Amino acid sequence: MADNSIRTDLFSPVKLGEIELANRIVMAPLTRTRVNEEGVPNEMMVTYYTQRASAGLIISEATNISAQGRGYAMTPGIWTEEQVTEWKKVTNAVHAVGGKIVMQLWHVGRCSHVDLQPNGESPVAPSAIKAAGNIYTVKGLQEASMPRALNTDEIPGIIEQYRHAAECAKRAGFDGVEIHSANNYLLEQFIRDSTNHRTDQYGGSIENRVRLVLEVVKAVTGVWGDGRVGIRLSPVTTEVGETPLDSNVMATYSYLVRQLNPFKLAYLHFVEGTTGKDRLIPEGVDLDALRSLFEGAYIGNNNYDFEMAISRRSEGKVDAVAFGRPFISNPDLVNRLRYNIELTGLDRNTHYGSGAEGYIDWPTANY
Ligand SMILES: Cc1cc2nc3c(=O)[nH]c(=O)nc-3n(C[C@H](O)[C@H](O)[C@H](O)COP(=O)(O)O)c2cc1C
Repeated sequence: MADNSIRTDLFSPVKLGEIELANRIVMAPLTRTRVNEEGVPNEMMVTYYTQRASAGLIISEATNISAQGRGYAMTPGIWTEEQVTEWKKVTNAVHAVGGKIVMQLWHVGRCSHVDLQPNGESPVAPSAIKAAGNIYTVKGLQEASMPRALNTDEIPGIIEQYRHAAECAKRAGFDGVEIHSANNYLLEQFIRDSTNHRTDQYGGSIENRVRLVLEVVKAVTGVWGDGRVGIRLSPVTTEVGETPLDSNVMATYSYLVRQLNPFKLAYLHFVEGTTGKDRLIPEGVDLDALRSLFEGAYIGNNNYDFEMAISRRSEGKVDAVAFGRPFISNPDLVNRLRYNIELTGLDRNTHYGSGAEGYIDWPTANY
């Protein structure tokens, strides 16, 4: 049987910060909406993640850090004791088969609907600018609600939500956390001048717009220490909510990436292009140049196939590659890539849903 490990070191161990991976193939965060209204993980999720534990690292589905942070029905949370207890079953099961798992910490900001918010309140955002597109609620798809701008004196409360969630994730036995600062959710809404029109110390200059994410990084690394916190950024995506890019992507994100260095993060993770769509990069933007400003490990993601992963790895452009959709229908993706076994195709109808179908019933190949 062909063994691709002679062609590439993607199947060899690597250390991202303090997290030791058995290989350089990472499972990207994937929201699958199989959770109850209390955001408590269940047995199906234990099975789902355990099936995929041969990934060098699993990044969990985006997980709400608070009731206010929620923008999709049936997504999990990490702020109550019950959530911690049930997530612990996931981490124990993944560890029992030799896997590693970090939790992606999520606050959606404006990408929400009053039906998903505590007491039917408005979602919060840097500025009162409505997201385009629909929100997945218990009543089906509904237009995003008009958000309200956070008051300056509410910002410490947002940072505290991240700190508390980071602490809960630690108690739930994760190997680390990934700060979700991608896909135009709350943190990226602050970073971009297209969604941040504030006039206080969290808006205006690049330094001000990046302030919140750095304060969150400080709080979360305060809980986890060096080498256990990663961050995901998506400098050129318009997903979700058809969000316009920042007016100066290179200036804004190069400032941010440089400012991340002192925090000794486990890794920097980019969505390279438009999330799940294409790898087109606007003129004047160079994601590899941005990434090279970072002094730690780098995970690349978005529309990779195996050959692209091999070639970007051999050029030294990535330390690890995160695959998203291929992991949905190929729980044993690492071995399939290694031994040239055909991949099972996707079923978009079951990406999101409530049952076992299309979730934990994908076959594993024979080796
Ligand atoms: C069903 C689905 C759910 C996703 N959920 C998340 C998520 O929770 N957090 C996140 O940062 N990205 C999420 N993404 C984006 C993926 O992590 C990834 O960036 C995207 O699918 C591109 O990678 P791929 O081409 O390997 O699939 C999701 C994508 C899909 C298809």
